[in-house]
Amino acid sequence: MHDIETEVLVVGTGPGGGSMAALLSSYGINNILINRYNWLASTPRAHITNQRTMEVIRDLGKEVEDEAYLFGTNQDLMGENVFCTSLAGEELGRMKSWGKSPESRAEHRLTSPGFMNDLPQTFMEPLLFKTACSRGTEPRLSTEYLSHEEKEGRVFTTCLDKLSGKEFIINSKYLIGADGGNSQVAENAKLPFKGQMGVAGSINILIEADLTRFVSHRPSVLYWVLQPGADVGGIGMGVVRMVRPWNEWLLIWGYDINEGAPQISDDFAIKVARDLIGDPDQDVKVKSVSTWTVNNMYAEKMRNGNVFCLGDATHRHPPSNGLGSNTSIQDSFNLAWKIAHVLQGKAEEKLLNSFEQERAPIAKQIVTRANQSIEEFGPIFQALGLTDTNDPKKMKENMSKRLKNDEEGEDTRRKLREAIAFKNYEFDAHGVDMNHRYYSDAIVNDGQKEPAFKKDKELHFEQTSWPGARLPHAWVFNKSGKQISTLDLAGKGCFSIFTGLNGSKWVDAAEKVSSKFNITILINVIGPGSSIEDYTGDWARIREINDGGALLVRPDHHICARFFTDSETAFDDLERVFSKILGSVN
Ligand code: FDA
Repeated sequence: MHDIETEVLVVGTGPGGGSMAALLSSYGINNILINRYNWLASTPRAHITNQRTMEVIRDLGKEVEDEAYLFGTNQDLMGENVFCTSLAGEELGRMKSWGKSPESRAEHRLTSPGFMNDLPQTFMEPLLFKTACSRGTEPRLSTEYLSHEEKEGRVFTTCLDKLSGKEFIINSKYLIGADGGNSQVAENAKLPFKGQMGVAGSINILIEADLTRFVSHRPSVLYWVLQPGADVGGIGMGVVRMVRPWNEWLLIWGYDINEGAPQISDDFAIKVARDLIGDPDQDVKVKSVSTWTVNNMYAEKMRNGNVFCLGDATHRHPPSNGLGSNTSIQDSFNLAWKIAHVLQGKAEEKLLNSFEQERAPIAKQIVTRANQSIEEFGPIFQALGLTDTNDPKKMKENMSKRLKNDEEGEDTRRKLREAIAFKNYEFDAHGVDMNHRYYSDAIVNDGQKEPAFKKDKELHFEQTSWPGARLPHAWVFNKSGKQISTLDLAGKGCFSIFTGLNGSKWVDAAEKVSSKFNITILINVIGPGSSIEDYTGDWARIREINDGGALLVRPDHHICARFFTDSETAFDDLERVFSKILGSVN
C-alpha cells in the first residue's frame, strides 16, 4: 500500500539532491524531491565551485549557467590566498589560488569553457531547486525520510509530513539518498563505510562586517589567521572566508571534539571575529552560528538494490580543496542519465552498476585528498616554530624569527615560503578537480593503454580522448562563426559522436544505431565546409584520432569508445559498443 507513486524519490535538497532532481527533470523523468526542513541551505557552507561543476551547470542550460555566474564572485576576486596574524596584522605570505596565477589561468582557459566561480551554497541550492521544479520535479519540503523497504523491484519509502505529523508512503522505482553526512538512507541501505567520523570540531560564525579596507587590495575567498588558540579543532588556523565581497563573512574556529559541541554566545562570536580581524572596535553583526565536524569516511558501495546514495552521504570529509558540493553534483551528473536511460527502456538495469564502479573510487580519492590537505598545513606551523609550544608568548617570539637579518631568519623565511607554496595541492589543484577517468563496464576501451600523466596529476589537468576520460574541450565554430565548446556539442542527456570529414561511415553507422537502440546520438562532423569548423586547428591537435576516426561520448561528457580511423565495419563497431553499455533492450 502506498499514498504516492513516482519514478524516482530524491531525499535531500543539497547540491547532490538538487542537481539530481534538476537533471532527472531535464531528461523527462518523474521525480519527487524531499527535504526535512521548510527551506534550503540556511548557511553558505560550500562556495568554491570548480570548472567541472560549472560544466555540469552549463549542460543544464544557458539560463542556469548565467545565473550561477551572476550570483557568484568571479575568479579574479577569488585568488590571493592570504596567511596572516589577523586581517589588520602582519601578512606572513600569500599564494595565488584557484587559477589566479598566469600559468594556472592558462591551463584553466585551455581545458574548459567554464570558470572557477565562488557561489555560496545559499545561492547554489535555490538555483538547482528552481531549475528542478520548473522542469517538473514535485518538491515536498518539511518532509522527512524515515525508512524504506524494497519489494519486487519497487522501493516503498515511509516519510513524515512534519506539518501534520502524519506518516505516508512513497512508492518509487528508485530511491536516491542525497541526505548528507549523517545519511539515514545510507545507514538503512546498509552501505559499507571505511574511515572515521568526528575527527575534529569546527565552529562557523556568519557575520556582516565591512572589511573592505583590509582585503580589497588582496582579494581572496580565504584569509588564514595564525593565532594562539586557533590550533584547537580542525584546520589549526582561524579562517576568515568571504561570502559576499567585502561585507559578509564566514569565520571558522575550532573546538575540542572531546568536549562536545559548545554553546556559542554572541559575545564569544564577536570576540572571535574581532580577534581574527585584528580590530577590537570593528562593527560586527552576528547572523548565525553553527558547528560541524571534520570527517574522514567514504562508502565502499554506493548502491544497494534500487537504492543509490551520493554526495556527502557517501563521501564525508573536511572542506579542504572545496570538493564536497562539487563532487556531489558530479555524482548526480554520472547517475542521472543512466537512470533516465533505464527508465525509458533504452538500457538494461546493469548500466546502473557503473555508477558505483566509476564514482566510489572518486569518493575515496577526495576524502583522502581533503584530509591530507589538513595535514599539509603542518610545514607552515613548523616553519613558524608553532609546533613545539602552546605558550602564546613563545609562539609570538618564534614567529618573529622570520624578521631577523641573520641565517636563522633566512632559513625561517625559506621554509615558510616553501610551506605556503606547497599548499597548491589544496588551493590550486586543477588535476584533483578535473582528472576524473572512469574504468567500468560502461566504457569500452578495447585494451587501449591509458596515457601516463606528463605532469603531477593532482596539480594539472591533462586532456585525452582515452575512453573513460572527459571529452577534451576545444573551441570550435558554428555556421555563424560563433565559438562553441566541444562540450556544448555533447551532453544534454544524449550520446554524441565526433568525427572529421573522412568519417562519413561513422555518421551513417550512428544514424542506424540510434534508430536500432531508440536513442538520440548528436552527430558532429568537424572540418572545413561542415556545420562545425575547427579554424584554429585546436580540436585536430587534441582529439588523438584521424579525420576518419570517431569518438563516442556519453551524456555525462565521458568518452565511452574511440576509433582511430574510418572503418568498413562502423555499424558493427558501434552496435557492439552500445550493446555492451546499454545491453540488448532493443
Ligand atoms: P547536504 O548536506 O548539503 O544536503 C543534505 C540534504 O538532505 C539537506 O537538504 C537536508 O536537509 C536533507 N536531509 C537530511 N536528512 C534528511 C531526512 N531524513 N529526510 C529529508 N531530508 C533530509 N564543498 C565544495 O564543493 N566547495 C566548498 O567551497 C565547500 N566549502 C565548505 C565549507 C564549509 C565550512 C563546510 C562545512 C562545507 C563545505 N563544503 C564545500 C562541503 C559542502 O557543503 C557539502 O559537501 C555539500 O553540502 C554536500 O551536499 P549534499 O547534497 O551531498 O548534502
